[in-house]
Amino acid sequence: MNAAIRAVVRTALYHNVEVTGILRGYDGLISGDFLRMERKSVANIIQRGGTILKTARSEEFRTESGRKKAFEQVKAHNIDALVAIGGDGTFTGANIFYDEFKVPVMGLPGTIDNDLIGTDFTIGYDTAINTVVEAVDKIRDTAESHDRLFIVEVMGRDSGLIALRSGIGTGAEAILIPETQTDINALLARLEVSRRDKSSKIIIVAEGDDAGGAFEIATIVKDKFPLIDTRVSVLGHIQRGGPPSCMDRVLASRLGVAAVESLLEGKTGEMIGIVHGKIHFTPFGQAIKHNTDVNSELLKIVEILSL
Ligand code: F6P
Repeated sequence: MNAAIRAVVRTALYHNVEVTGILRGYDGLISGDFLRMERKSVANIIQRGGTILKTARSEEFRTESGRKKAFEQVKAHNIDALVAIGGDGTFTGANIFYDEFKVPVMGLPGTIDNDLIGTDFTIGYDTAINTVVEAVDKIRDTAESHDRLFIVEVMGRDSGLIALRSGIGTGAEAILIPETQTDINALLARLEVSRRDKSSKIIIVAEGDDAGGAFEIATIVKDKFPLIDTRVSVLGHIQRGGPPSCMDRVLASRLGVAAVESLLEGKTGEMIGIVHGKIHFTPFGQAIKHNTDVNSELLKIVEILSL
């Protein structure tokens, strides 16, 4: 997100537009927690994870009175347009705010889940999957040494895209995701086969999988195969921090530039993404429909390569 903030600030200044940073998202918009941004304010942040502007899930912005207060702040500070960075919650709020007060707003997709419609990749996703790959490679070393099965839980409350790509990238023996129904008997049958010719086994499970999280899966597996030495590892919030990958930095930079330039061209109410390598605009109402499409080619790859 920092790379996106940097791009927004520097592009605005390049076009002689003043920039104000809003702290803690919509909460800061309501309370007027604003920060004048200069070139220097975004120096040395492209390599830092998280967001220098901080973030929050705002309950007050869900209410009409909260949004009214936010609009008063926008007027009082002569703000002409907004750039909102986030996922479906952020865009839902931006959409309603635009409908009510007609403050031009463009959105940038910032979520590690990669589950928004209208972009091939969201800001943070590439970094998150690389974090998972690094962690699972380490887990594989100890799994191999001890002939163990590891069930690794990754983030994705509603989305299995982190699990899917990192699972392929680490050669996982099975990948369980919420978009496809998990067949526990098929999983156990796969383990039966891999038990014979593999010493270490990794199952990657997205936290929102319908069969449960890593601990639930482990209980079932241990019950069926008491002799397989099974361990659980929940990766958790390490997936949401750390220096961003180069791919994320470039993506965020491109999107940040496009956000400002599209506002200057008079656009509003859309999320900016990248589709097939090119900048792509999607109305907020479309972008927030949770993307449950899973690339069938990737699923096929898992089927072929995982055993
Ligand atoms: O929305 C992104 C996400 O990373 C989900 O995959 C995950 O379930 C959730 O955030 C965790 O949110 P929190 O940090 O608020 O528990």
